Amino acid sequence: MNQQPLFQVKDLKKYFQSGKVVTKAVDGVTFDIYPGEVVGVVGESGCGKTTCGRTVIGLYDKDGGEVLYKGKDVHRLRGAEYSAYCREVQTIFQDPYASLDSRNDVCTLIAEGLDIHKLVSSKAERLEKVKELMAKVGLHASGLHRYPHEFSGGMRQRIGIARALAVDPKFLLCDEPISALDVSIQAQIINLLMDLRETEGLTYLMISHDLSMVKHVSDRIIVMYLGKIVESCPAEELYEQPAHPYTKALISAIPIADPEVERSRQRIILTGQVPSPSNKPKGCAFAGRCQYVTERCRQEEPELREVAPGHLAACHLYNR
Ligand SMILES: Nc1ncnc2c1ncn2[C@@H]1O[C@H](COP(=O)(O)OP(=O)(O)O)[C@@H](O)[C@H]1O
Ligand SMILES: [Mg+2]
Repeated sequence: MNQQPLFQVKDLKKYFQSGKVVTKAVDGVTFDIYPGEVVGVVGESGCGKTTCGRTVIGLYDKDGGEVLYKGKDVHRLRGAEYSAYCREVQTIFQDPYASLDSRNDVCTLIAEGLDIHKLVSSKAERLEKVKELMAKVGLHASGLHRYPHEFSGGMRQRIGIARALAVDPKFLLCDEPISALDVSIQAQIINLLMDLRETEGLTYLMISHDLSMVKHVSDRIIVMYLGKIVESCPAEELYEQPAHPYTKALISAIPIADPEVERSRQRIILTGQVPSPSNKPKGCAFAGRCQYVTERCRQEEPELREVAPGHLAACHLYNR
């Protein structure tokens, strides 16, 4: 790609300290997000996905490295640049209920960004814009003066999406956007987000522990393990030719709809414990669970390097 990345994440670190214990939640991650791309982040619970997403967009301070948005340091934006950034970069979180103030009706909730950024000049224009946003996300205008508790989880997530869209964003950080929803409506929300990608020209960082969802929506996927990227490549390639033994195990655990295929398939069962992010072992963090482990893996941490064009993996199997 010849264009400039929207986000450039370089050796980013985020540590949490409580007493003498330091948790290295994000421990040196490097990746780019190009305009129009959907970049997926997967990995087991606790591997640092949420911390990574929040530190990338500047919701959390960083402890090392840097993040550039359109070439500017995200963690140092001030004044008009910061305010423009806050408009362009929006978030969709797992629990829409927690992020919606229950004392406000839908109209007030959706209009919040319009009001903060002074994007409308009259009451009539504000109302028009809110109705337009409701239509865009599949909410009926009759819900205008209802409150969040009167809606189902899926409808509340639509309210959250309308709120994000109100300020005409360029980028959405979606952190487990469907994990709290009924399975029956998960696909509707994902389809809505992907339609909006086209109609609104959006770029996404899509965080989820659900690999099949991420596979479905992403152009590129990043696999995290214990605060680090262990593999990253185009989405199809990750599923067709996973390189890292951890990725192989994650993929082998995705159920396949065809019972014939499902029965004949080989599952890789992950054994052993995930080491604690506050007490990482020497060498490869996955060594204790890896079926291909060698002595070198226990001594020396593998670097993330190119194993095929555009395909990165951190594993000694590919660096003999
Ligand atoms: N605010 C926090 N304070 C202390 N530790 C945290 C905080 N947020 C996350 N962590 C720790 O950082 C690690 C990564 O967490 P998180 O980013 O939430 O992972 P994921 O989203 O992949 O489940 C975990 O060990 C978690 O306990
Ligand atoms: Mg999380």
